[in-house]
Amino acid sequence: MLKSISSFLRSKTFGDFSRDSLLKMDPEIAHQASIAALKMGLVPSQQRVDSKLLATNICGLELKNPIGMAAGFDKNAQVPVALSKIGFGFCEIGTVTPHSQQGNEKPRLFRLPEKQAIINRMGFNNHGHDEVFKRLSEINSEAIIGVNIGANKDSGDFVKDYVLGVKKFAPISDYLTINISSPNTKGLRDLQGFEALKKLLFECLAERARAKIRVPIFLKIAPDLDEKEMDAIAKVIVDSDIDGLIISNTTIGRETVLGLEHSEELGGLSGKPLFNL
Ligand SMILES: Cc1cc2nc3c(=O)[nH]c(=O)nc-3n(C[C@H](O)[C@H](O)[C@H](O)COP(=O)(O)O)c2cc1C
Repeated sequence: MLKSISSFLRSKTFGDFSRDSLLKMDPEIAHQASIAALKMGLVPSQQRVDSKLLATNICGLELKNPIGMAAGFDKNAQVPVALSKIGFGFCEIGTVTPHSQQGNEKPRLFRLPEKQAIINRMGFNNHGHDEVFKRLSEINSEAIIGVNIGANKDSGDFVKDYVLGVKKFAPISDYLTINISSPNTKGLRDLQGFEALKKLLFECLAERARAKIRVPIFLKIAPDLDEKEMDAIAKVIVDSDIDGLIISNTTIGRETVLGLEHSEELGGLSGKPLFNL
């Protein structure tokens, strides 16, 4: 009986049915349903071991394959082990902020199926450092676990929020991401400017130096920067001990989706149209 349930869960019929059902739901409900299904073990595990050819080393991180789950899917570290079991080589938790916050009002997630794109203005809805820390401390994942850190919307000191994130998660994550590129927290992207970025990286890297283990730290940037802004970032990072860049977060540009339903919703656009950018 168990064997036949397991093979049904693995079948194309079940896969197609799940996908069709999810696409009929409101997008945020579909996201929650996916997390619930992963939690309940309804999503079948990867059957074959990855080829050794897929093994990838980035900054000392040994990935079983180079495909990972980006930040925003498992914001609260509810399903990193399940994501690892279905085959992801890494899983980026977050964005996590020091305190839990609700995020923006719903609806805040929109599908643009004609372009295989999404617009979101979630606004860092997450359970906060303590709860996510507790969950991560209790798991043992085969995949690399990164924690993407951010600042609370009502924080009086964004830099301090990032430093707190480094302090909290450096001891229990494989890498950290400093996310200063979400378009949905007012003022956050200003941290990409020369002086602001210099101060932010200086303080975060000083905090990392205080931790027992040196975790790689990546900086996640926006795709909406002009040459001058990119030069400023380049100047700061070559003089810093940051390990790499994550390119990229969602775009505020809409040239690729003009005229489509939802294209004028505020927020960040991701998916296929982002790729060329
Ligand atoms: C619903 C949603 C929520 C997201 N939340 C976050 C987030 O909290 N932090 C972050 O750094 N990126 C977040 N992202 C951006 C993704 O991590 C990724 O950078 C972006 O979607 C571009 O990749 P893609 O086109 O492959 O989706 C989110 C994206 C989506 C669609």
